[in-house]
Amino acid sequence: MTQKTYVMIKPDAVARGLVGQIVARFEATGLTIERMQHGMVTPQQAAANYVEHEGKPFYAGLVEYITSGPVVKMVLSGPSAVPVVRKLMGATNPADAAPGTIRGDFGLTLDANIIHGSDSPESAEREIAIFFG
Ligand code: RTP
Ligand code: MG
Repeated sequence: MTQKTYVMIKPDAVARGLVGQIVARFEATGLTIERMQHGMVTPQQAAANYVEHEGKPFYAGLVEYITSGPVVKMVLSGPSAVPVVRKLMGATNPADAAPGTIRGDFGLTLDANIIHGSDSPESAEREIAIFFG
């Protein structure tokens, strides 16, 4: 089933010049880039995107980090786009992410873990509205 998902290349990966390599992986699978925009995340967008983590010990650091520098925001579409993107991203902690995944190949730490991808079609719809209106 064709799905849309929200994907965001996080500030550390943009600063390190990894955008091209990461986008190439999504294109190679056949996913379609519907939207792509370079820019900052506002504190309001960060809070809305990570509302499920509000109150957790890492929440303040997470919001500070995602607003710390430019990101690349994308809407990708294709068959099973939500789980396919999560599979390409790898485990949340890059230390646990398999080689060949984006986090496994490019990341080292849980706080700067390279990329975000929606975890369900419902999250995708909510996140696309937050970042693209
Ligand atoms: P994301 O939302 O960024 O795509 O990552 P995810 O679904 O794989 O992981 P999630 O559980 O939603 O966590 C969101 C982000 O919070 C940071 N985190 N830190 N210190 C901790 O225990 C901890 N747990 C999560 C990570 O940077 C993660 O991407
Ligand atoms: Mg998440």
